Amino acid sequence: MSEVLIVDDDHNFRETLRELLSGAGYQTRIATNAEQGITLLQAATPDLTLCDWKMPGGGGELFLESLQSEGLLTTMPVIILTAHGTGPNAMQAMQLGAYDFITKPLDIDLALATVARAVRHMELQREVELLRHQRFADRSIEDINVSEEGLKPQLIGRSPAWIEVFKNIGRVAATDVGVLLLGESGTGKDVVARAIHQNSARGRRPFIILNCAALPPELLESELFGHERGAFTGAVAQKRGKFEAADGGTIFLDEIGELPLSLQPKLLRVLQEHTFERVGGTASIHSDVRVIAATNRPLENEVEQKTFRADLFYRLNAFTVRLPPLRERPSDILPLAEYFLARYAQRNQAAATGLSADAIVTLQNYSFPGNVRELEHLIERAAVKAGGRAITAEQIQDELAKERSVAPGIFDTQAASEMPFHDAVARWERHLIQQALTASHGNKSDAARKLGIHRRLLYEKLAQFEML
Ligand SMILES: Nc1ncnc2c1ncn2[C@@H]1O[C@H](COP(=O)(O)OP(=O)(O)OP(=O)(O)O)[C@@H](O)[C@H]1O
Ligand SMILES: [Mg+2]
Repeated sequence: MSEVLIVDDDHNFRETLRELLSGAGYQTRIATNAEQGITLLQAATPDLTLCDWKMPGGGGELFLESLQSEGLLTTMPVIILTAHGTGPNAMQAMQLGAYDFITKPLDIDLALATVARAVRHMELQREVELLRHQRFADRSIEDINVSEEGLKPQLIGRSPAWIEVFKNIGRVAATDVGVLLLGESGTGKDVVARAIHQNSARGRRPFIILNCAALPPELLESELFGHERGAFTGAVAQKRGKFEAADGGTIFLDEIGELPLSLQPKLLRVLQEHTFERVGGTASIHSDVRVIAATNRPLENEVEQKTFRADLFYRLNAFTVRLPPLRERPSDILPLAEYFLARYAQRNQAAATGLSADAIVTLQNYSFPGNVRELEHLIERAAVKAGGRAITAEQIQDELAKERSVAPGIFDTQAASEMPFHDAVARWERHLIQQALTASHGNKSDAARKLGIHRRLLYEKLAQFEML
């Protein structure tokens, strides 16, 4: 019979959990604080521990740290429980080596399934003697706290789907493997990449972003790897590439699916051997960089069509984090809206004071094809209109209607003829681009295809219209 240790200061909760677990055939032991739990563990190791995150005199954090330093986490999974179901806690717990994270009040089926999974996992673990999380033990807790602080203002979300993302960030930040971020436009790939970097052992080294779709292949190669003087026309001086600049840190390669086949072997080599040459150069340069890649369409298809190398795909894809679209996690809409509003108010004096109840309902009923970015822009525009009062449902609806309708003045030939020619053309272009982006859920390559223009032209236009 498997044995579970319950560490929680709340008597009623402890007893409920004990009954639930006994009913499901587990043996239980009880500790009322972290210290007592640690003492019990030293006498005999159970198969699993469930530990509350917040307890007087040191909670889950203290518990995990002690187990970590004694090397116990590799042989016994810990599931953290908390009523404070905030993402940063989940992320920190996972980073400290917790096996999973459950929020109170308990969802009984989910809790039992998690416990069963953890026990099975531990059995397997013992069989293969897999020592996971080992390298993490080398890291000092001070590093983690500092970067946790840095992260707090950036990532908001409390839906179960987003808590999963926090957990994955924590898991992967504790390792040094490649990460592939998958998610529609505006779901937070950039911010999540940054969070992984900040919370990793590389957190104080450079974080460098490069969008593979935004540059033609020749320029992209020189951006990534640098060039020697005279390597091509216009190369008047030697230039260091992003891989050199990011040494010791992380490179975020956005829209990795657009990396030309011709450059893929070179990237693969950096990932495998940490060496490369500058364009036009012969000397091998060494650089130790972690790569986080992102894409908003399934790379597997590209691999199948042989436009993306399978070996590179597997290398980049050591760990995948999926960012769910906002419409699949409506409970994140309100906390995000409030966060954007507060941030806007910090920068602007006469900003809105809050959201009216019907404004909240309107937001929650909307599907946000542009995801979090669309919500952010919507809130900022409505906040201007609300000027010192709460944002109303009408103001939200007005802004949404504007998004959906044709660009103002475009079909109004009178208005257009009174506009300078270039302004009228630009408005029209902007409108077509917006429509194509909405129709393709923000996928820029798809949008370019729909518009029948080259991807790079689309990027130029997006930059010109400040739509990036
Ligand atoms: N969970 C979140 N908490 C707070 N802000 C967020 C969150 N997710 C996204 N944002 C904000 O939404 C905007 C869009 O996010 P981001 O740029 O990371 O999306 P993306 O997935 O990289 O989009 P694209 O595919 O278009 O590059 C940013 O301003 C970002 O700060
Ligand atoms: Mg992005």
